[in-house]
Formats: sequence, C-alpha cells, structure tokens
Amino acid sequence: MKITLHAFLLFSLASAAAAGPFEQLRGGLELPSAPEPSLKTEADIQYLQGDSRYWVTVAADDKYDRTALLSAGMDIVEIGKYTVSGFIAKVEMDQLAAKGFIVTSRQSIQEYAKKHLKDFPAADAAYHNYKETVELLQKLAADNPAETTLFSIGKTIEGRDIWCLRINPAEKGETPSARPAAFFMGNHHGREHLTNEVALGLASHLLARKNDPEIKKYLETLDIYIAPMTNPDGAEYDIQTGKYRWQRKNMRINPDKSIGVDLNRNYDSLWCQAGSSHYPNAETYCGPYAFSEPETQAVKSFVGARKNLKTLMSYHSYSSLLLYPWAGKDVPLENEKDRKVFEAMAKGMTAFTNYKPQQSSDLYVATGDTTDWAYSTAGIFSFTTELEGTTFYPGAAIIDKAVSKNVKAAVYLLSVTNDPYQLAK
Ligand code: ARG
Ligand code: ZN
Repeated sequence: MKITLHAFLLFSLASAAAAGPFEQLRGGLELPSAPEPSLKTEADIQYLQGDSRYWVTVAADDKYDRTALLSAGMDIVEIGKYTVSGFIAKVEMDQLAAKGFIVTSRQSIQEYAKKHLKDFPAADAAYHNYKETVELLQKLAADNPAETTLFSIGKTIEGRDIWCLRINPAEKGETPSARPAAFFMGNHHGREHLTNEVALGLASHLLARKNDPEIKKYLETLDIYIAPMTNPDGAEYDIQTGKYRWQRKNMRINPDKSIGVDLNRNYDSLWCQAGSSHYPNAETYCGPYAFSEPETQAVKSFVGARKNLKTLMSYHSYSSLLLYPWAGKDVPLENEKDRKVFEAMAKGMTAFTNYKPQQSSDLYVATGDTTDWAYSTAGIFSFTTELEGTTFYPGAAIIDKAVSKNVKAAVYLLSVTNDPYQLAK
C-alpha cells in the first residue's frame, strides 16, 4: 500500500464524518427524539456484545492491496476505486498500520449495526431459514416424486444435514450417472441469505416447468443437483436472535475460542496462501488444514463420487459479478481451450444477469475456494456468482428479481452442460 494523497484526503473526510451525529449519540446525550427512524438503540444490539469486529474502510488501490488485506484477515465486502470496506477483528485491525495500510474510517460492529440493522425474519419473512428450506425441498421432492431425490451430502459441525435435491427422472437415489451433471450451491457464507433463495428458486422453476420443451430436454439428458445451504449453521446463527449478525464463517469453535472457518478458503487448492489467513479469529480463516471442515468434506466427497459433473455454480453475495478461475493465482488459465469455454459461458450467463464477468483473481487473489478446487481436481467448469445488491440484507423485494435473472443464467449453463467444449470450437 502506497501512502498517496487521495488516501489522506479520504482519511480527513472520514474522520470528519465520524464525529457526526452518531458520535454524539454514543457520548450519551439525551436527544428529545430519534434523528431517524432506522437508528437502533443500545438494547437492540445487545446480542452483538462480545463481537470484536470492526467495519473498516481501508485505502487500497488495486487487486494486490486487496489480496494483502484478505491475507491480513479482512473480509472485503465492498470495493471502491481507492478503498475497500468490510469486517475485520480488532486484533487484526490493530496490525494494519504496521503492515502499511491506512484505515480511513472504522466503527465497531455494534455501531455499524445501529445504522444498518434490519430484522429477520419479521421484515424479511420471505427468506427461508433452515427449517423452511428443508420443508420447501421436501415439498418439491414430494410433489415431483418421478423427477427428484432429496438426500443429505453430509452433516455440518453442529449436526445439521446439508440437503441436496437431485433432478433426474431416470436415475434415483444417490446412484451415479453417466449423464453430464451440473451442481448448484448456495450459502457457503452464512449471511448471504439471498443465495439460498436463488438456489431454491432454481429448483422450483425447473420443477414447475418440467413439461416445457426446453426444460424437459435438460431433465431428460442431464443429472442436476441443487444444494441451497452449504453452511446452514452459519446461516442459522446469523438470524438466531431475530437480528442479523453478519456471520460469514461456519460454526467451528476454534482453539482460541473464536468462531468459524471460512469455508470458501478451506478447499484444497493452493490452500491458505494468498488472500487467506491462518489466524482463527480472521474472517478469512482457512482452517487448520485443507478440508478440515465437515461442510467442505461433504462437498469433496459429493464431487469426488460424481465423475459426470461438468459444471458448477457457487452462489455468493453481493456485487453483481460472475467469477471464474483462477481465483488463487494471478495468471490467466494456462489451458487456452478451457479459458475459452469459461469466457463463453460467462458471457452466456451475464447476458441474462447483466453482472460483470471476470477472472476471480482480477478482483483479488483468494486461495482455497470452491471453484479453483473443483476445476483443478475434476476439470469442472466452476463459477462463483456474486449476486446483486448493496448489502447482505437487501430485503425481500430483491428476491424475485435476483431469482428470475439467475434462473435464466442457470438454464443457459444447463444448455451447455452436455458438452462445454462445444464453446471452444
Ligand atoms: N467473495 C467471495 C469470497 O471471498 C468470492 C471470492 C472469489 N474469489 C476471488 N479470488 N475473487 O470467498
Ligand atoms: Zn460469500
């Protein structure tokens, strides 16, 4: 990180802003009435007591700065031209200056929550929690017995099943198939509830339209798997109190008593190198070793047992992006034919979503993610979608829009799953 003029400008601006109304409130001034209706009280954020994270904005000019910040344990949520913002634990935040980073603004997660808090599920009842997700999957399976199988790919650290809906009228149960297969996953990160909705929406869409000629063709020729909640423990913890906690990681209790491993850093592809941290309390904690977590183990054995998988989509939120390998290496894919396929698929999908297609590592380098692992070990054309929105909690109104675009993109992915290399010709 270079100390540049714009960084200093940002710093002064941010400091000025920090001394605004919220500072006064925290100072204990009795105000006659709340300055804005959304402002939450001390009592509203009691449940975040003990959470040592800060929401920070840090000067960062490029993907190299961003990668270094991820390695320093920051969870990059928003990217601006000269800055990034996101969560970081206090211990790691306190080391940023020594690592050459300029923090232009910071607020404790409690202060941040006071300004950004929304309730769940009261205001966001349209979102499916774990129980409702399971019930919906069971209903889809029960209503479509000829087309589906619902099975668990494994259990989480807290013992929840990671459910997967198989759509394949010819082959039932968990028996392997010779048909080309596609795998859609949601909710690797707990707070990314919209990803679960998109995966559920896709399952509902395919089954509601199972007699449409196009969909029927995919059901008759492909082997389709949808696992909407890869990290149900994190998703449930995120909403447990009825309010949001910004929980990214899974629910492993680490030796230092901090919570969670970042599941999207726990896969065995250049594990825990750039963009990932060995510190358990870091938001980008890679775990004690690759595949240390039951959730990633479950994905590993699921994928390992299905040599027919050709395409994979892992839904995340938010930023309106479509990302493809490499994520962990700052070089374009060496295999030119595969790169052509990735680019063509990305173009095909983003024609429907209007998201920005790019190689993952052009955003920042992050090792140990799902897509690099699935591509490098199994040759699966694997993508990360960062859904639309400008917050992890964008409200219920966004669901239909996000589902409808992403279902179209997913159907496009299905349309090329039979033979991805047709796109390299
Ligand atoms: N935001 C997601 C994460 O941090 C996706 C990362 C995609 N990889 C990348 N190198 N940009 O896990
Ligand atoms: Zn994510």
